[in-house]
Amino acid sequence: MSTQGQQATINPNKTLWEKGDFTRIAETMRESGEALVASLGITEGLRVLDLGSGDGTTAVPAARLGADVLGVDISSPLVAAGNARARSLGLTNLRFQEGDASDLEELDDDSFDLVVTMFGAMFAPRPADVAKELVRVTRPGGRIVMGNWIPGDPTLVAQILRISSAYSPPPPEGFVSPITWGVEETVIERFAAAGVPAEQISFERETYTFNFPGTPSEFLGVFRTYYGPTMNAYEAAAANGREADLHAELEELFNAQNTSSTGATTIPATFLRVTVAV
Ligand SMILES: C[S@@+](CC[C@H](N)C(=O)[O-])C[C@H]1O[C@@H](n2cnc3c(N)ncnc32)[C@H](O)[C@@H]1O
Repeated sequence: MSTQGQQATINPNKTLWEKGDFTRIAETMRESGEALVASLGITEGLRVLDLGSGDGTTAVPAARLGADVLGVDISSPLVAAGNARARSLGLTNLRFQEGDASDLEELDDDSFDLVVTMFGAMFAPRPADVAKELVRVTRPGGRIVMGNWIPGDPTLVAQILRISSAYSPPPPEGFVSPITWGVEETVIERFAAAGVPAEQISFERETYTFNFPGTPSEFLGVFRTYYGPTMNAYEAAAANGREADLHAELEELFNAQNTSSTGATTIPATFLRVTVAV
């Protein structure tokens, strides 16, 4: 393949999520993943797709409840990490494979009773296609449950994304911000275009809690070293001589959001839970 040909196949969405090591953040989200899954009414043999699964924060507890779970993620190292966790836990009803939420070409129509995507599909490009794919792979009578960060929300992740974008170059033309999935009207429009009327969609504001066994500053260090979007923001800020400003803003954010007084870090973050009856 020519150099030009290789360049043409670069997928920036995949590159972003293969950067760093999201498993280091996921380790701090396990309790909330389990609580979320416990609220889903999962029964033995339910066919579950966890889309943008990472290494299985929600896929693992769903499999432990007896569901037949497929995790799909764009990041090859995260798929490998998920399969390693499934093996080490002896979960033969759980596997992970690579795929893109914008185009799930390898998955058949109506294959799942439940599609879960916690802060996963929201990061895929072409959100209109994502909504169509979510609906296509869910069987009629099945459910889609999305967790999406909310624009303008004052809690951790929405603020990390806001601050990071203020230090990053403007996105390419036509780019739709992932955080638009946190706007109810936009979610309704996207699913309406995918054939699901508004009456079949419900919204709740819920909390995911990050638990880290170190200080808030050390937790920020984990984001700086392992979380692709934050790594990119630091690189962009450094290129403009603004790294110290970015770091100071994030330090203030992480410390202000911490609710633990034990020397560890506990940070609750608000998200929009979207439930779609297909
Ligand atoms: C914030 S992480 C959340 C991971 C996991 N759901 C969890 O709660 O731990 C976002 C995940 O979405 C995945 N992702 C991003 N874009 C994607 C796409 N187009 N298709 C599938 N997965 C994608 C990333 O690789 C990453 O694992």
